[in-house]
Amino acid sequence: MKALMLIVFFVYSVVSRVIDEKCDGVIVHNIHHNKEIIKENIDSAYQLAIDYDKNMLFFSYSSYDSQSTFRSAYINLKTNELKIVEDINGGFANAVDSQTKTVYLGGNDGIYKFDYVTNKAIHIDGTTDNIWQMFVKKDLYYTIYPDENVYVFKNGQTQRVPELLKTKAMLVALDNNDNIYFSNSSGLFVYKKAKDYVSFLGDYNLNSITSDINGNLFFSTPSGIYSIDDKSKTIKNLVSIDNIYGVVVEKDGNIIYSSRDSIVRLKPSKKTCFANEKHSVDVI
Ligand SMILES: *[C@@H]1O[C@H](CO)[C@@H](O)[C@H](O)[C@H]1NC(C)=O
Repeated sequence: MKALMLIVFFVYSVVSRVIDEKCDGVIVHNIHHNKEIIKENIDSAYQLAIDYDKNMLFFSYSSYDSQSTFRSAYINLKTNELKIVEDINGGFANAVDSQTKTVYLGGNDGIYKFDYVTNKAIHIDGTTDNIWQMFVKKDLYYTIYPDENVYVFKNGQTQRVPELLKTKAMLVALDNNDNIYFSNSSGLFVYKKAKDYVSFLGDYNLNSITSDINGNLFFSTPSGIYSIDDKSKTIKNLVSIDNIYGVVVEKDGNIIYSSRDSIVRLKPSKKTCFANEKHSVDVI
């Protein structure tokens, strides 16, 4: 009996090794991932943000049925039910403050708070600018278009972020050490708080930047998803996929990304893949 089990085990490990070497498809951290479609027929979903408390995914999409081009919507990540937010002009940016449990939506005439009960967005005072992107780290940071300036909304008032007065930025995010990452058409940069200077991280063509529930940063370009490890000071290419519009990370660490016409979850399978190493590590 023991001998038979040993043989079975031996055969199994040989077979699994063969499978490992033939691993294709989406590989993240040496694990094969399946693409699980959350929603299809969504035109150009941008600016994904998760309300971790309610497990809702907010995003904007392109709509051609009225004069406003962009609309805000959200999907229940458990049931995949979709709802469209009412009463917002050109809903484009999305961010969630998990401390105060506030969902912020950015339109073409300022910032709104979302109300789950009425399904409506309520404009808040402080700005009437065209909001491009938003990020919460204690306060609400946001960029405006076409000016490409970075603002912070605090105590009901907005002001330019003092450290970024001289630079243009389309996307902004802060890490757990209050370093400010920002991107513009020249690439990705970080303002290092402790050293009070800006350094260049690479000519990445960012279309989204986000943090997971622990404050670790991730970003996407049209062709890949990356993580920023602040401790080891490295940017890692997690996976290369064509046609990415945005990325966000679920509570349990699953990656969700949007493509030209759908929203997809990368779900880890049980398969480990060492043969297809596609990681590239850039040192900051
Ligand atoms: C992007 O930001 C960097 C760092 O502040 C700056 O040197 C560069 O001129 C900016 N690029 C554009 C196109 O404004």
